[in-house]
This record gives sequence, C-alpha cells and structure tokens, in this order.
Amino acid sequence: MKTPIFILLIIALCISSGCSNAQFMSSEKILIVYLSRTNNTKAIAEIIHNNIGGALVALELENPYPENYQATVHQVVKENETGYLPTLKTKIDSIDNYVVVFLGFPTWDMKMPPPMKTFLHQYDLRGKTVIPFNTNAGYGVGSGFQTVKELCPNSRVLEGFSITGGVEKDGVYYVIKGEKAQEAEKKVKKWLQKIKVIE
Ligand SMILES: Cc1cc2nc3c(=O)[nH]c(=O)nc-3n(C[C@H](O)[C@H](O)[C@H](O)COP(=O)(O)O)c2cc1C
Repeated sequence: MKTPIFILLIIALCISSGCSNAQFMSSEKILIVYLSRTNNTKAIAEIIHNNIGGALVALELENPYPENYQATVHQVVKENETGYLPTLKTKIDSIDNYVVVFLGFPTWDMKMPPPMKTFLHQYDLRGKTVIPFNTNAGYGVGSGFQTVKELCPNSRVLEGFSITGGVEKDGVYYVIKGEKAQEAEKKVKKWLQKIKVIE
C-alpha cells in the first residue's frame, strides 16, 4: 500500500527540522506536573506552560508538610531514610493520554522530594518522554535528575533544567518574579530550544 503524500511530507519536515520532541505536538498530549512549596518551581512550570501549553498540575498532599521550615526538613530527612511515600491528594485522569511529561520539583535534602517519588511510583510513564526541571537554594539539583532516570527506566528522559530559587532556611521565599522572572524565561526558552521542544 502506498504511503499518502502528506504523511511523507510531515516525515520529511520532521527529519529536516530535527523535530523529535514536543514540536508539532498537540498540547493535549503534554502534562506539566510540579511540586512547589514557595512558588518558585511553580513559576518555572508556568513559564513552560506559557510557551508550549498542556495540562498544568500541582501536586498536593493528603497531609501537607508543616509550615515550619525546620520541621519540614526534619520530616523529609526521616521520609528519605525510611523510603516513606506520602499520599497524594492530586489525581491525574488518563495518564495514558499524555506523550510528554514535564516533572518540576525543588531540591529537598539534596534529593527529589518524597511527593514526586510518590507520583513516579503511582503513575507509569513507560514509553513517554519525561523532561525534569528544578529550583533550589543554590546547591543544585543534587540527585534529583538521576532519580528521575531511575524511577522512569522505560521513558526517554531528556536533559533537565535547574535554576536557583528561594533560600527558605534564610527566610527568602518566592524570588522568580520581576527581573528574575524575565531572566528565568530566557533561560527556560533556551533550554526548550536545546532539547527541541520549541523552535
Ligand atoms: C525541606 C526543604 C529542604 C531543602 N533542601 C535543599 C537542599 O538540600 N539544597 C538546596 O539547594 N535547596 C534546598 N531547599 C530550598 C529549595 O530547594 C528552594 O527554596 C526552592 O527554590 C523551593 O522551591 P519552591 O518555591 O517551588 O518550593 C530546601 C527547601 C525545603 C523546604
């Protein structure tokens, strides 16, 4: 059977432009899921969303972490030691409908926060393209992106994006606003171009 000419054209267009990721993809196939306590990771999620669309979903917990920073650190360290996975309140309908999944999380205890681990244990992302992003207090992503690879062994995990956000231990909370938001937007766009999600 002959391949219709328009299919050949689309294939040729994709090969010539190097399109392989979310380019030309319907935004209904894109999920942007993030965890954010003081809204810095949320700000990056929104920048991505403004550029490519998709479903934007914040992870919420059945039992939220304490308001107090030190108490939260203490709880997270314990959860990491025991491998405890906190129960999510957020439910994703029809994960199978998504082809590209962005995963946003802050660095906690130099690791991926436990709620994001819950998400990756709960939802099977096999066969999907997974794209992580992160904010942190200046110490980097730690083992977070490595953990994405480990928990998504059957996904195509693309290069992640990481940027400095707040420093909650010093009382510096939401910082990705104003000039810093503009700078962040430039960096996010550059990264999305590099991984061929936008042109
Ligand atoms: C419990 C906890 C642990 C944290 N641990 C680290 C860390 O190990 N390294 C780091 O650079 N920042 C750490 N941070 C700071 C956050 O990663 C940083 O403030 C981030 O921008 C917060 O993102 P959000 O505003 O989306 O919640 C920690 C914050 C919290 C609440």
